[in-house]
Amino acid sequence: MPPESTGSTKRAEWSRYGFILAAIGSAVGLGNIWRFPYVVGENGGGAFLIPYIISFLCFGIPLMILEFTVGRGFRGSVVTAFGRLHPRLRHLGLLPFVMVIVVFSYYSVIAGWTLAYVLFSVTGYMDFETFTSSPLPLVTFFATILLAGSVVKVDLKAGIERANRYLMPVLGLALLVMLVQALTLPGVQAGLTYYLTPDLSVLSDPGIWVQAAGQVFFSLSIGFGVLLTYGSYLSDTESIPRSAVLIAGADFLVALIAGFIIFPVVFSFGFDPVSGPQLAFITLPEIFSTMAFGSFFGALFFILLFVGALSSILSMVEGGVATIVDEWAWPREKATLLVCILAAIIGLPSALSYAGFDITLFGAPFLDSVDLLFGILLVPVSASVICIAFSWLWKPESLLAEVNKNSRFKFPRAAVTYLRYVVPVLLFVTLASTVAGML
Ligand code: PFF
Repeated sequence: MPPESTGSTKRAEWSRYGFILAAIGSAVGLGNIWRFPYVVGENGGGAFLIPYIISFLCFGIPLMILEFTVGRGFRGSVVTAFGRLHPRLRHLGLLPFVMVIVVFSYYSVIAGWTLAYVLFSVTGYMDFETFTSSPLPLVTFFATILLAGSVVKVDLKAGIERANRYLMPVLGLALLVMLVQALTLPGVQAGLTYYLTPDLSVLSDPGIWVQAAGQVFFSLSIGFGVLLTYGSYLSDTESIPRSAVLIAGADFLVALIAGFIIFPVVFSFGFDPVSGPQLAFITLPEIFSTMAFGSFFGALFFILLFVGALSSILSMVEGGVATIVDEWAWPREKATLLVCILAAIIGLPSALSYAGFDITLFGAPFLDSVDLLFGILLVPVSASVICIAFSWLWKPESLLAEVNKNSRFKFPRAAVTYLRYVVPVLLFVTLASTVAGML
């Protein structure tokens, strides 16, 4: 059985809603509000929701539950949990550890853009290229890292938990106001028809299934070890299945609502919804510049993006920091400093790759390539490693006892069989199709 706690001091524990809010904060981010609508736009509108919901249910929620269960059961972050499962497997935990630091680095670049755009919504928008070629993105990139670091370095409750208690209500409110505004625009019908009418013919394209799976992973923060780390602070009295359904449900709802905001807005102003990642930074600012009360709604939209991004970043930093604290017994402050410095250095080429310096990797801007590698390709690999290791090597009775603790719903033994055989096959097919689609 895994030991109950690391070191001599008792491990920090979330308070009742602290965990749910922080985990929703991790899940809800740029992936939901920025990426989801344009991925839907590029993949046949409403039809995309079908593979998305199927992936969400078949391996999204199960893997989320597994990460929380492993975290709580082994009372440690990802390297520690692997080490306690089997000392020889300790190094497997380094994969999600490295991934989370790299994702932190480039995600903060984009979060920095949204921060600058909050400012622009008041001062007037700078053209995207002029902006990315200026020193401003570097400033907002470092500011984002500094802000996240200053929250995480404080202890769990006074830092991440308290920040999310403020950030999540702001996010919810901004989302609702934007939704009401979008649904009262004149072009709402065209937007909704586009969003919700499934063009079922696209379902035969394997690419759409791969996109959906990747989107589920990224959106739920699966495979990065952050859910596992958050689970390690979870009290025994919480029901993991119930919490996971709540968290995943909130994540899905926010992504869905983001679509109900973006498409009516884009259609009302006669723009093309299939405009890729530039949707938020080129198309929407053009619309906000002409819309009634545009600076208010522009500010609100970019605040929404920044708040979502920041709460996700907090979980990435915690994933890195907890590993260093658990494994090398560093003080939390020093560990936070190291993680932030690493991200600032690793993120520099990403931050400069849109600045006209032509910093590329595998023929694409550096930021896009590290996103492809660390945010998409490696995720099913790392999720499979976690899934296979813990479903096969952790005694099924212990796994089931942990996940069913204080839960009204009791998973049967078949759940372990599902994790052992079905999920790895699904993940392998996803990865193989992703790679095949790239060739
Ligand atoms: N789930 C976040 C989003 O949808 O934007 C992104 C994310 C958070 C990825 C935490 C990885 C992570 F560890």
